[in-house]
Amino acid sequence: YADPRFSDKQFLVTAGPTYEAIDPVRFIGNHSSGKMGFALAEAITSLGGKVVLISGPSSLQVKHKNIELIRVTSALEMLDAVQQKWGQTDLGIFAAAVADYRPAVAENQKIKKTADELEIRLEKNPDILSWAASNRPAGANQKVVGFALETQNGLEYAKGKLEKKKLDAIVLNEMGDPGVGFGTDTNSVKLLFKSNKMRSFELQSKQELAFSLLNELMNNLYE
Ligand code: C5P
Repeated sequence: YADPRFSDKQFLVTAGPTYEAIDPVRFIGNHSSGKMGFALAEAITSLGGKVVLISGPSSLQVKHKNIELIRVTSALEMLDAVQQKWGQTDLGIFAAAVADYRPAVAENQKIKKTADELEIRLEKNPDILSWAASNRPAGANQKVVGFALETQNGLEYAKGKLEKKKLDAIVLNEMGDPGVGFGTDTNSVKLLFKSNKMRSFELQSKQELAFSLLNELMNNLYE
């Protein structure tokens, strides 16, 4: 059913990992499945919202035809896609596990295994979320929500990211908890707002969690 809080908004969701090319056949990546981001995009659509889903390499397919899916490979491509869509976005949810670093040089030809040691120099990728949060068109009332995956001191690091990246809210995933994190079908998270308000969500499927998170975001970001 259509929820009026959604039908008047344009959403942007990032999902999945990014792959950073070493050469034409190899890359640096991570274990993100894209499940949380895809679940958010499906939930938004089923509630009547319009959504652009920008995803790194993921084996998932979208079910709702209304989702505008843009598939990208690297962090630089993801940034480019976000930049193209950002001006028309009301609420951005950045669930992608973007690679922090990329090979400084992507070789044109496959690297041969002749050397006993091989060094690959890495350079920092741009922070897509920080770019979005600090480039909000004046008067547009755009909202920005990030994710934080932490293995220790979760609350402290998540609060730090909320402030440093100038976010409205952040979703904290604490890895190490059973059923939580990469590739799993379930998740249990904490949602922290700029106002210092916090809400905990018990272990549930990523589909259910998407609805719970969106409901809480709508109630708190637009009061
Ligand atoms: O700093 P950290 O990578 O832990 O921050 C995680 C949050 O920042 C997530 O929302 C992720 O999607 C976003 N991010 C990003 N671009 C990067 C790195 C992280 O959008 N290069």
